[in-house]
Amino acid sequence: MFKNIAVIRGDGIGPEIIEQALMVLNRTADLFGHEFKYTEVDMGGCAIDKWGEPLPQAMLEKCTSSDSVLLGAVGGSKWNDVPAELRPEKGLLKLRAGMGVYSNNRPAKIWPQLADASPLKKEIVDKGIDFIIVRELIGGIYFGEHKTVGDTATDLLKYSEAEIERIGKIGFETALKRNKRLCSVEKSNVLDSSRLWKKVMHRLADEYPDVELTDMLVDNCAMQIVKNPAQFDVIVTENMFGDILSDEASMITGSIGMIPSSSLGAGSCGLYEPIHGSAPDIAGKDIANPIGTILSAAMMLRYSFNMLDEADCIERAVEKFLDDGYRTADIMPIDSKDLTVVGCIECGRLITENLTK
Ligand code: IPM
Ligand code: MG
Repeated sequence: MFKNIAVIRGDGIGPEIIEQALMVLNRTADLFGHEFKYTEVDMGGCAIDKWGEPLPQAMLEKCTSSDSVLLGAVGGSKWNDVPAELRPEKGLLKLRAGMGVYSNNRPAKIWPQLADASPLKKEIVDKGIDFIIVRELIGGIYFGEHKTVGDTATDLLKYSEAEIERIGKIGFETALKRNKRLCSVEKSNVLDSSRLWKKVMHRLADEYPDVELTDMLVDNCAMQIVKNPAQFDVIVTENMFGDILSDEASMITGSIGMIPSSSLGAGSCGLYEPIHGSAPDIAGKDIANPIGTILSAAMMLRYSFNMLDEADCIERAVEKFLDDGYRTADIMPIDSKDLTVVGCIECGRLITENLTK
Protein backbone atom coordinates (compact mmCIF):
# COMPACT_ATOMS: atom_id res chain seq x y z
CA MET A 1 0.00 0.00 0.00
CA PHE A 2 1.13 3.56 -0.64
CA LYS A 3 0.68 6.14 2.13
CA ASN A 4 1.60 9.79 2.33
CA ILE A 5 2.55 10.65 5.92
CA ALA A 6 2.95 14.26 7.02
CA VAL A 7 5.86 14.46 9.46
CA ILE A 8 6.24 17.20 12.04
CA ARG A 9 9.62 16.99 13.73
CA GLY A 10 8.98 20.12 15.82
CA ASP A 11 11.24 21.39 18.58
CA GLY A 12 13.48 20.12 21.39
CA ILE A 13 13.77 16.34 21.28
CA GLY A 14 11.12 16.19 18.50
CA PRO A 15 13.56 15.75 15.58
CA GLU A 16 15.57 12.97 17.26
CA ILE A 17 12.60 10.87 18.33
CA ILE A 18 10.90 11.28 14.94
CA GLU A 19 14.08 10.09 13.19
CA GLN A 20 13.87 6.79 15.09
CA ALA A 21 10.17 6.34 14.35
CA LEU A 22 10.81 6.89 10.62
CA MET A 23 13.52 4.25 10.67
CA VAL A 24 11.06 1.82 12.23
CA LEU A 25 8.36 2.75 9.70
CA ASN A 26 10.75 2.30 6.77
CA ARG A 27 11.82 -1.14 7.88
CA THR A 28 8.18 -2.12 8.48
CA ALA A 29 7.29 -0.91 4.97
CA ASP A 30 10.12 -3.03 3.51
CA LEU A 31 9.02 -6.10 5.43
CA PHE A 32 5.37 -5.86 4.41
CA GLY A 33 5.78 -4.42 0.91
CA HIS A 34 4.38 -0.93 1.56
CA GLU A 35 5.62 2.45 0.44
CA PHE A 36 5.54 5.40 2.84
CA LYS A 37 6.25 8.86 1.49
CA TYR A 38 7.01 11.57 4.05
CA THR A 39 5.97 15.19 3.65
CA GLU A 40 7.88 17.46 6.02
CA VAL A 41 5.77 20.03 7.87
CA ASP A 42 7.09 22.94 9.95
CA MET A 43 5.14 23.53 13.14
CA GLY A 44 5.86 25.03 16.56
CA GLY A 45 8.86 27.11 17.53
CA CYS A 46 10.83 26.18 14.43
CA ALA A 47 7.95 27.47 12.26
CA ILE A 48 7.82 30.71 14.27
CA ASP A 49 11.53 31.20 13.58
CA LYS A 50 11.18 30.37 9.88
CA TRP A 51 7.73 31.69 8.94
CA GLY A 52 6.75 34.02 11.78
CA GLU A 53 3.83 31.83 12.92
CA PRO A 54 3.52 28.41 14.57
CA LEU A 55 1.46 26.75 11.81
CA PRO A 56 1.21 28.56 8.47
CA GLN A 57 -1.93 27.70 6.47
CA ALA A 58 0.10 25.94 3.76
CA MET A 59 1.57 23.63 6.42
CA LEU A 60 -1.86 22.80 7.81
CA GLU A 61 -3.00 21.94 4.29
CA LYS A 62 -0.10 19.53 3.89
CA CYS A 63 -1.46 17.75 6.97
CA THR A 64 -5.12 17.71 5.98
CA SER A 65 -4.23 16.37 2.51
CA SER A 66 -2.01 13.59 3.92
CA ASP A 67 -3.10 10.08 4.89
CA SER A 68 -2.05 10.81 8.49
CA VAL A 69 0.28 12.97 10.55
CA LEU A 70 3.15 11.89 12.79
CA LEU A 71 4.22 14.54 15.29
CA GLY A 72 7.26 14.68 17.60
CA ALA A 73 6.84 17.57 20.04
CA VAL A 74 6.65 21.35 19.93
CA GLY A 75 7.53 24.26 22.20
CA GLY A 76 10.36 25.45 24.41
CA SER A 77 11.34 28.31 26.67
CA LYS A 78 12.90 30.16 23.72
CA TRP A 79 9.36 31.11 22.62
CA ASN A 80 7.95 31.85 26.11
CA ASP A 81 7.78 35.57 25.48
CA VAL A 82 6.05 35.55 22.10
CA PRO A 83 2.41 36.81 22.13
CA ALA A 84 -0.17 34.17 23.14
CA GLU A 85 -1.54 33.96 19.60
CA LEU A 86 1.88 32.98 18.25
CA ARG A 87 2.98 30.47 20.86
CA PRO A 88 4.13 27.06 19.54
CA GLU A 89 1.20 25.41 21.37
CA LYS A 90 -1.20 27.47 19.26
CA GLY A 91 0.17 25.63 16.23
CA LEU A 92 -0.78 22.34 17.84
CA LEU A 93 -4.29 23.53 18.71
CA LYS A 94 -4.76 24.90 15.19
CA LEU A 95 -3.62 21.58 13.77
CA ARG A 96 -6.01 19.56 15.94
CA ALA A 97 -8.93 21.84 15.11
CA GLY A 98 -7.96 22.09 11.42
CA MET A 99 -7.83 18.31 11.11
CA GLY A 100 -11.09 17.98 13.07
CA VAL A 101 -9.59 15.32 15.33
CA TYR A 102 -12.03 15.53 18.21
CA SER A 103 -11.21 12.20 19.79
CA ASN A 104 -7.89 11.73 21.57
CA ASN A 105 -7.06 8.26 22.80
CA ARG A 106 -4.38 7.97 25.51
CA PRO A 107 -3.64 4.52 26.86
CA ALA A 108 -2.32 4.05 30.39
CA LYS A 109 -0.87 0.60 30.50
CA ILE A 110 1.91 -0.72 32.61
CA TRP A 111 4.60 -2.73 30.86
CA PRO A 112 5.39 -5.70 33.12
CA GLN A 113 9.11 -5.09 32.40
CA LEU A 114 8.77 -1.59 33.86
CA ALA A 115 6.55 -2.33 36.87
CA ASP A 116 9.36 -1.21 39.21
CA ALA A 117 9.42 2.24 37.58
CA SER A 118 5.87 3.05 38.79
CA PRO A 119 5.82 5.39 41.79
CA LEU A 120 2.81 3.47 43.14
CA LYS A 121 3.10 0.76 45.78
CA LYS A 122 3.70 -2.71 44.42
CA GLU A 123 0.39 -4.07 45.74
CA ILE A 124 -1.50 -1.43 43.75
CA VAL A 125 0.51 -2.01 40.57
CA ASP A 126 0.09 -5.76 40.89
CA LYS A 127 -3.69 -5.41 40.59
CA GLY A 128 -3.02 -4.20 37.02
CA ILE A 129 -3.03 -0.86 35.23
CA ASP A 130 -4.60 -0.99 31.79
CA PHE A 131 -7.05 1.72 30.86
CA ILE A 132 -7.65 4.29 28.16
CA ILE A 133 -8.50 7.95 28.48
CA VAL A 134 -10.72 9.19 25.67
CA ARG A 135 -10.25 12.95 25.73
CA GLU A 136 -12.39 15.45 23.80
CA LEU A 137 -9.77 17.41 21.88
CA ILE A 138 -11.19 20.32 19.91
CA GLY A 139 -13.73 21.94 22.22
CA GLY A 140 -14.19 23.20 25.75
CA ILE A 141 -12.09 25.80 27.48
CA TYR A 142 -9.16 25.38 25.08
CA PHE A 143 -11.23 26.75 22.24
CA GLY A 144 -13.65 29.10 24.01
CA GLU A 145 -13.06 32.84 23.89
CA HIS A 146 -9.94 33.93 25.80
CA LYS A 147 -9.74 37.56 26.79
CA THR A 148 -8.08 39.91 29.20
CA VAL A 149 -9.75 43.22 29.99
CA GLY A 150 -7.87 45.41 32.41
CA ASP A 151 -6.91 43.30 35.37
CA THR A 152 -9.42 40.52 34.65
CA ALA A 153 -8.98 37.50 32.40
CA THR A 154 -11.64 35.05 31.23
CA ASP A 155 -11.63 31.75 29.36
CA LEU A 156 -14.93 30.38 28.18
CA LEU A 157 -15.79 26.69 28.70
CA LYS A 158 -18.54 25.74 26.28
CA TYR A 159 -19.89 22.43 24.95
CA SER A 160 -22.88 21.69 22.77
CA GLU A 161 -24.88 18.45 23.00
CA ALA A 162 -23.61 17.46 19.54
CA GLU A 163 -19.97 17.88 20.60
CA ILE A 164 -20.53 15.78 23.72
CA GLU A 165 -22.47 13.15 21.82
CA ARG A 166 -19.79 12.48 19.21
CA ILE A 167 -17.04 12.02 21.80
CA GLY A 168 -19.39 10.07 24.06
CA LYS A 169 -20.02 7.59 21.24
CA ILE A 170 -16.28 7.06 20.86
CA GLY A 171 -16.11 6.36 24.60
CA PHE A 172 -18.85 3.72 24.36
CA GLU A 173 -17.38 2.18 21.18
CA THR A 174 -13.93 1.99 22.80
CA ALA A 175 -15.40 0.32 25.89
CA LEU A 176 -17.30 -2.17 23.70
CA LYS A 177 -13.99 -3.37 22.23
CA ARG A 178 -12.49 -3.76 25.72
CA ASN A 179 -13.97 -4.73 29.09
CA LYS A 180 -17.21 -2.81 28.51
CA ARG A 181 -16.83 -0.40 31.42
CA LEU A 182 -17.03 3.31 30.73
CA CYS A 183 -16.43 5.98 33.35
CA SER A 184 -17.65 9.45 32.41
CA VAL A 185 -15.66 12.11 34.24
CA GLU A 186 -17.00 15.62 34.87
CA LYS A 187 -17.61 18.27 37.52
CA SER A 188 -21.39 18.22 37.49
CA ASN A 189 -21.61 19.39 41.12
CA VAL A 190 -20.38 22.80 39.92
CA LEU A 191 -20.42 23.27 36.15
CA ASP A 192 -23.36 23.56 33.77
CA SER A 193 -21.24 22.18 30.93
CA SER A 194 -20.62 19.09 33.07
CA ARG A 195 -24.31 18.65 33.86
CA LEU A 196 -25.00 18.67 30.13
CA TRP A 197 -22.11 16.22 29.65
CA LYS A 198 -23.61 13.82 32.17
CA LYS A 199 -27.11 14.08 30.68
CA VAL A 200 -25.86 13.30 27.17
CA MET A 201 -23.76 10.37 28.37
CA HIS A 202 -26.77 8.80 30.08
CA ARG A 203 -28.94 9.32 27.01
CA LEU A 204 -26.28 7.54 24.92
CA ALA A 205 -26.10 4.70 27.43
CA ASP A 206 -29.50 3.46 26.17
CA GLU A 207 -27.88 2.77 22.78
CA TYR A 208 -25.11 0.71 24.40
CA PRO A 209 -26.83 -1.71 26.79
CA ASP A 210 -23.71 -3.91 26.93
CA VAL A 211 -21.56 -1.13 28.37
CA GLU A 212 -21.70 -0.34 32.07
CA LEU A 213 -21.62 3.46 32.47
CA THR A 214 -20.49 5.09 35.70
CA ASP A 215 -20.03 8.78 36.57
CA MET A 216 -17.16 10.24 38.52
CA LEU A 217 -16.30 13.77 39.55
CA VAL A 218 -12.95 14.83 38.18
CA ASP A 219 -11.35 15.55 41.57
CA ASN A 220 -12.35 12.12 42.82
CA CYS A 221 -11.06 10.59 39.59
CA ALA A 222 -7.65 12.18 40.12
CA MET A 223 -7.59 10.46 43.50
CA GLN A 224 -8.90 7.10 42.27
CA ILE A 225 -6.25 6.91 39.53
CA VAL A 226 -3.54 6.68 42.17
CA LYS A 227 -5.58 4.80 44.78
CA ASN A 228 -7.05 2.04 42.64
CA PRO A 229 -6.24 2.34 38.93
CA ALA A 230 -7.33 -1.25 38.29
CA GLN A 231 -10.98 -0.13 38.54
CA PHE A 232 -10.76 1.73 35.20
CA ASP A 233 -11.31 0.36 31.72
CA VAL A 234 -12.22 3.43 29.62
CA ILE A 235 -12.51 7.00 30.89
CA VAL A 236 -14.24 9.59 28.72
CA THR A 237 -13.88 13.24 29.56
CA GLU A 238 -13.71 16.80 28.28
CA ASN A 239 -10.61 18.52 26.94
CA MET A 240 -8.94 20.06 29.98
CA PHE A 241 -9.86 17.32 32.46
CA GLY A 242 -8.42 14.83 29.95
CA ASP A 243 -5.23 16.84 29.63
CA ILE A 244 -4.63 16.77 33.37
CA LEU A 245 -5.75 13.21 34.07
CA SER A 246 -3.68 11.80 31.18
CA ASP A 247 -0.45 13.23 32.60
CA GLU A 248 -1.32 11.70 35.96
CA ALA A 249 -2.20 8.36 34.35
CA SER A 250 1.03 8.27 32.36
CA MET A 251 3.13 8.81 35.46
CA ILE A 252 1.74 5.82 37.31
CA THR A 253 2.83 3.58 34.42
CA GLY A 254 6.45 4.54 35.04
CA SER A 255 7.40 6.92 32.29
CA ILE A 256 5.65 9.50 30.20
CA GLY A 257 8.25 8.68 27.52
CA MET A 258 6.53 5.37 26.72
CA ILE A 259 3.01 6.61 25.99
CA PRO A 260 1.68 7.10 22.47
CA SER A 261 -1.58 8.72 21.45
CA SER A 262 -3.95 8.84 18.54
CA SER A 263 -6.36 11.61 17.60
CA LEU A 264 -9.11 10.94 15.10
CA GLY A 265 -12.08 12.74 13.64
CA ALA A 266 -14.67 11.75 11.08
CA GLY A 267 -12.29 10.26 8.48
CA SER A 268 -9.30 7.96 8.65
CA CYS A 269 -6.66 10.71 8.62
CA GLY A 270 -5.35 10.90 12.18
CA LEU A 271 -2.78 12.73 14.25
CA TYR A 272 -0.29 10.55 16.12
CA GLU A 273 2.03 11.88 18.80
CA PRO A 274 3.71 10.82 22.03
CA ILE A 275 2.05 12.51 24.99
CA HIS A 276 5.27 13.98 26.38
CA GLY A 277 6.58 17.45 25.56
CA SER A 278 9.66 18.70 23.73
CA ALA A 279 12.02 18.39 26.76
CA PRO A 280 14.44 21.12 25.61
CA ASP A 281 16.75 20.38 28.57
CA ILE A 282 17.73 17.02 27.10
CA ALA A 283 17.49 17.91 23.39
CA GLY A 284 20.48 16.99 21.24
CA LYS A 285 22.03 14.82 23.98
CA ASP A 286 20.92 11.50 22.50
CA ILE A 287 19.22 10.44 25.73
CA ALA A 288 15.54 10.96 24.86
CA ASN A 289 13.19 7.97 24.80
CA PRO A 290 11.79 7.49 21.27
CA ILE A 291 9.42 4.66 22.26
CA GLY A 292 6.31 6.87 22.73
CA THR A 293 6.79 8.09 19.16
CA ILE A 294 7.54 4.64 17.77
CA LEU A 295 4.37 3.31 19.42
CA SER A 296 2.44 6.30 18.01
CA ALA A 297 3.61 5.24 14.55
CA ALA A 298 2.30 1.74 15.32
CA MET A 299 -1.05 3.25 16.31
CA MET A 300 -1.13 5.09 12.99
CA LEU A 301 -0.71 1.83 11.13
CA ARG A 302 -3.43 0.18 13.19
CA TYR A 303 -6.10 2.89 13.37
CA SER A 304 -5.62 4.90 10.17
CA PHE A 305 -4.20 2.38 7.70
CA ASN A 306 -5.77 -0.80 9.09
CA MET A 307 -2.32 -2.47 9.01
CA LEU A 308 -2.86 -4.66 12.05
CA ASP A 309 -0.01 -7.15 11.57
CA GLU A 310 2.38 -4.30 10.90
CA ALA A 311 1.36 -2.53 14.13
CA ASP A 312 1.72 -5.79 16.10
CA CYS A 313 5.16 -6.25 14.58
CA ILE A 314 6.33 -2.85 15.89
CA GLU A 315 4.87 -3.46 19.34
CA ARG A 316 6.60 -6.85 19.52
CA ALA A 317 9.90 -5.21 18.56
CA VAL A 318 9.52 -2.73 21.44
CA GLU A 319 8.69 -5.56 23.80
CA LYS A 320 11.78 -7.49 22.74
CA PHE A 321 13.93 -4.40 23.30
CA LEU A 322 12.67 -4.30 26.91
CA ASP A 323 12.88 -8.08 27.36
CA ASP A 324 16.47 -8.02 26.16
CA GLY A 325 17.26 -5.75 29.09
CA TYR A 326 17.71 -2.46 27.26
CA ARG A 327 16.44 0.80 28.75
CA THR A 328 16.66 4.47 27.90
CA ALA A 329 17.76 6.65 30.82
CA ASP A 330 14.22 7.69 31.83
CA ILE A 331 13.12 4.09 32.44
CA MET A 332 16.38 2.87 34.00
CA PRO A 333 16.09 1.86 37.66
CA ILE A 334 18.78 3.53 39.76
CA ASP A 335 20.88 0.51 40.62
CA SER A 336 20.42 -2.31 38.20
CA LYS A 337 23.30 -4.49 37.10
CA ASP A 338 21.29 -6.59 34.66
CA LEU A 339 20.07 -3.78 32.42
CA THR A 340 21.87 -1.80 29.73
CA VAL A 341 21.15 1.88 29.24
CA VAL A 342 21.16 3.05 25.62
CA GLY A 343 20.70 6.40 23.88
CA CYS A 344 17.91 7.50 21.59
CA ILE A 345 19.64 6.44 18.36
CA GLU A 346 20.70 3.06 19.67
CA CYS A 347 17.19 2.47 21.00
CA GLY A 348 15.77 3.16 17.53
CA ARG A 349 18.37 0.95 15.91
CA LEU A 350 17.73 -1.99 18.24
CA ILE A 351 13.96 -1.77 17.84
CA THR A 352 14.35 -1.59 14.04
CA GLU A 353 16.61 -4.63 14.15
CA ASN A 354 13.97 -6.50 16.18
CA LEU A 355 11.30 -6.07 13.51
CA THR A 356 10.33 -9.39 12.02
CA LYS A 357 7.18 -10.53 10.30
C1 IPM B 1 -1.02 17.69 25.53
C2 IPM B 1 -0.31 18.99 25.77
C3 IPM B 1 -1.03 20.09 25.00
C4 IPM B 1 -2.44 20.18 25.53
C5 IPM B 1 -0.35 21.45 25.05
C6 IPM B 1 1.08 21.39 24.56
C7 IPM B 1 -1.12 22.49 24.29
O1 IPM B 1 -0.23 19.27 27.12
O2 IPM B 1 -1.08 17.25 24.36
O3 IPM B 1 -1.50 17.10 26.49
O4 IPM B 1 -2.68 20.82 26.56
O5 IPM B 1 -3.33 19.59 24.91
MG1 MG C 1 -0.97 17.68 28.37
